[in-house]
Amino acid sequence: MDNRITKAVIPVAGFGTRLLPVTKTQPKEMLPLVDKPAVQYVVEEAVASGIESILFVTGRGKRAIEDYFDYAVELENELHNKGREKLLEEIRRVVDAVDIYYVRQKLPRGLGDAVLRARGFVGDEAFAILLADDIVVAEKPCLAQMLELYAEEPALYLAVMPVPHEEVSQWGIIKGREIAPSLYEVEDLIEKPSLAEAPSNLAIVGRYLIKPSLFAIIENIAPGKGGEIQLTDALREILRKERIYAYRFVGQHFGVGDKESYLKANVAFALQREEFAAPMRDFLRKLLEGKEG
Ligand code: G1P
Repeated sequence: MDNRITKAVIPVAGFGTRLLPVTKTQPKEMLPLVDKPAVQYVVEEAVASGIESILFVTGRGKRAIEDYFDYAVELENELHNKGREKLLEEIRRVVDAVDIYYVRQKLPRGLGDAVLRARGFVGDEAFAILLADDIVVAEKPCLAQMLELYAEEPALYLAVMPVPHEEVSQWGIIKGREIAPSLYEVEDLIEKPSLAEAPSNLAIVGRYLIKPSLFAIIENIAPGKGGEIQLTDALREILRKERIYAYRFVGQHFGVGDKESYLKANVAFALQREEFAAPMRDFLRKLLEGKEG
């Protein structure tokens, strides 16, 4: 059995309602963290983890993503003519790094349905799913950490992290038995439970290693939370037949799917950049002290 995963699916069809109004005409995945769109960090994580081809599940209004991961011939000629080779190289790097495919989710029927659109791309291979709302900063990419586990034991894996109890209703939550440090055997999963329903505070972060047997299950599940076909519900169903592990990854998570998290992520990313760290710190200190920036 081949224990390598080389394909990844990145669903980007969602409306981005929590970030309106900016997401009315702008895909949320294209909103910048400092100077790169959020989705680029996720694509870079996939590439750095050994992924060779990526399928974006897109929808209407998401064409900017396709254009971004393509050459911009006129702009690039202009940069070349002006001798700005470093910038040219930088904008080309991610475009050349990986094969990208696109399929549309024609109706917004939920994350599970979006993943189902990947069936033809995936064929009979195990694959990764990465959600562009979740950005993980880590020395070894979060996906690479999971792929190492998969190489040892090819099963289904979810990335998880503990969240404050008052936030459990914003996440898929697992019930798990810790079988090794940071590794849980999943016993149950619930999509966005109330605090009373939540079996733990371990939240599913948007990194999954999945097998194609999931597709037949997604096809047959009923709509769940929010009237949508939920990936979490399909995983709960698959749990009857297959083992799922939840892995508490090493790294710092940034959510970018809602306004508060997005703003915090931008500040954090700016502070992590060498050229902005000192001026940003200075600016923030003065701002907080009530002085003019
Ligand atoms: C989705 C999943 C949820 C998971 C989350 C991670 O929810 O349904 O289980 O915890 O992604 O970001 P969404 O945030 O798309 O509503």
